[in-house]
Amino acid sequence: MGDRRRSPPRSLRRRLACRSDGVGIVSRKSKTAPPPAWSATFAEKAEITVALYGAQARSPSDLGAWRMWIGAAVEQANGPDVCERARFVDAAGWMNEVLILYWRDPLEHRAWLSSAAIVSWWGHDDRVLGPVGIWREIVVVPSARFETILSEPAIRIGSGRIAPQVEGPIKTHGYWGSMRDRLPVSRHDALESDWGEALAVRASGDGSGRRISVRAPANLALIRSGQDASLCSVEEFSEYQRSIRPVLERGMDYLRDHPLESGCCACRFMTEVEKDGEPSERSFGFAWFLTLGDLERWSKSHPTHLAIYNVFSRYAQAQGADLQLRLWHEVAVIPAGGATFDYVNCHDRTGLLGFFPQTDAS
Ligand code: HEM
Repeated sequence: MGDRRRSPPRSLRRRLACRSDGVGIVSRKSKTAPPPAWSATFAEKAEITVALYGAQARSPSDLGAWRMWIGAAVEQANGPDVCERARFVDAAGWMNEVLILYWRDPLEHRAWLSSAAIVSWWGHDDRVLGPVGIWREIVVVPSARFETILSEPAIRIGSGRIAPQVEGPIKTHGYWGSMRDRLPVSRHDALESDWGEALAVRASGDGSGRRISVRAPANLALIRSGQDASLCSVEEFSEYQRSIRPVLERGMDYLRDHPLESGCCACRFMTEVEKDGEPSERSFGFAWFLTLGDLERWSKSHPTHLAIYNVFSRYAQAQGADLQLRLWHEVAVIPAGGATFDYVNCHDRTGLLGFFPQTDAS
């Protein structure tokens, strides 16, 4: 298959150009001090590898072979330093089971990726047959392009489990735009897409029976934004479920279903699961945005994030010193050539399928 990149239609370009920079709730002029925040940080020259390995099926009972393989793969030599598990039902109604993997050392990741056990299983002809699709999204990110924010210094989830230190309370938070200020690279780089606003119209990305790789533009932004309610009292947990969770789900649905308007190419709202498959009380949104600017616009001005923000502010005020809900996020802006997106036997609403140039590897 050839280069499938398409320019957005004129009406879309106009819509993108008119995106409003609405007024944020938190501002540099705000008189109320925001609650304190911390940041898990990495050494100046470090590179962080984040890899999502997922499998999708209409029926979870079809995922047994996948679970066996990935379970063994993460235990082998040069395997990840951090392995977290999650699941979600995607826009097409398929169950997806996902491993979120982190490596400190990119060389170890490369060795793992090119090992016989990974290459032979992933490349086997059987992978394009049957009811299961598999996908992986891998990024290698210099620390200057990686930032985190934690509502408490003790949070150790995701990249926070391999970060050598936690800094804080930090000053760069509590105003829209602080995410960008926490990214050292932003001091000399506007982090714009090298393809302008060319978020291609969702083309037919049907990947059944095929292997498709997607080549993304430079400066694609990823966010993993987590909520940990596992320490909440029974009362706080039920209030969280009643007031925050539905608003959060609406925000995640909006991003998933409005890629052209939002600049969000893919959004999955996942529940973390324990090693034995039991659901935890931790969840996170994992989303790809065309640029950091698109992510900023959504968080600062879209009613869905502002609603999340507002409902949380009231909730936090009501909980006072008893508040146990913990929030964190990690954001990466991917350099040119720093990402791999592979989809094998996947339906057309999977990840970045349908966006950007695709290479048909079958
Ligand atoms: C920033 C609340 C979920 C994207 C913030 C801030 C708060 C907040 C309080 C300001 C933090 C500071 O600078 O001190 C929440 C709550 C959530 C939630 C309570 C869920 C219960 C999400 C999700 C995403 C997201 C799921 C994206 C997938 C962002 C971004 C910023 C932000 C990008 C930084 C904006 C900037 O500094 O320019 N959120 N949020 N949030 N949030 Fe959320």
